Amino acid sequence: MRLPARVTIEEVGLRDGLQLIGSVVPVEVKLRLLRALYGAGIRAMEVTSFVSPKAVPQFSDAEAVARAALALPHLDVSALIPNLRGFERAREAGVRRYTVVIGATDRFNERNVRMTVTESLEQLDAVAAGVRAAPGADLAVGIAVAFGCPYTGRVPLGAVVRIVEHARALGVRAISLGDTIGVATPLQVATTIARLMEAHPDLCLVLHLHDTRGMGLANVLAGCEAGVTRFDSAVGGLGGCPFAPGATGNIATEDVNHMLQAMDIETGIDQQALLECGRLVRDVITAELASHSLRVHLGRGA
Ligand code: COA
Ligand code: ZN
Repeated sequence: MRLPARVTIEEVGLRDGLQLIGSVVPVEVKLRLLRALYGAGIRAMEVTSFVSPKAVPQFSDAEAVARAALALPHLDVSALIPNLRGFERAREAGVRRYTVVIGATDRFNERNVRMTVTESLEQLDAVAAGVRAAPGADLAVGIAVAFGCPYTGRVPLGAVVRIVEHARALGVRAISLGDTIGVATPLQVATTIARLMEAHPDLCLVLHLHDTRGMGLANVLAGCEAGVTRFDSAVGGLGGCPFAPGATGNIATEDVNHMLQAMDIETGIDQQALLECGRLVRDVITAELASHSLRVHLGRGA
């Protein structure tokens, strides 16, 4: 197998992870989890979402969470934004790395952010102009439903390529491919990555996978073999998009970290400390967690 020596895991538990949690998690609890994850060695984190608090009340505290995260030394902090207003809020809070979320299909994007793909690309143009004017700022695009859409089924690669090409023309360096409803297969992941890398060899490709059908780790492996060295995951396997029917959690950070480290791939994350973060999530947020490694850990009565 052709595997990387080192992988960066970006923890998205505080963003994607909390989206499907019905009640608003108090900011103190979010900060406790933030610090525990940092203590476990996580150094890349999507900490919140600067979306409309009417659309997602869970993130009405985005500024407070972002500021606390930015105070942690050497933590690479990012935030999700849907539009120019989100960018302005994130920038004012001090965030320097932004991920603009755009669904690959109009049907999904209209439900998620009330815009067509074309309208989202116009917002991206405006955000990119703002990013160019902000020193040290870094813009990424997160393509939601990049492999399959809850409304239109399998997503043709052309829909993804259209967004990638637009983003590249604006100088966007990183593209995250989101399997929002967990329908991707290892073959689809491998062929998609190969095609995009061939056309854009200097592009940083990130995989954002959900484990809805148990395909998460298989897809991580397919991504690694195809040359991906950056993955999003959520502690405990929390997560899911409230605007995608049937969506469930992200791949669990503990499971990804376990698999990679067991294959001698460096992540810089302490597995035992990470498992304790999972326990914290169980104790203070929700007991409905899909993480395999956490189940083993808690089953030991440790
Ligand atoms: N942050 C805070 N408020 C925002 C905002 C943002 N990023 N973008 C818009 N708003 C506010 C506007 O200021 C306006 O406020 P007002 O009613 O007090 O005047 C109101 O929201 C409506 O603005 P509009 O541009 O018409 O937004 P909309 O109602 O069409 O909703 C989004 C568009 C993108 C703001 C909303 O759908 C959203 O936040 N979606 C996020 C979905 C999500 O998080 N999905 C999961 C992640 S993939
Ligand atoms: Zn997601």
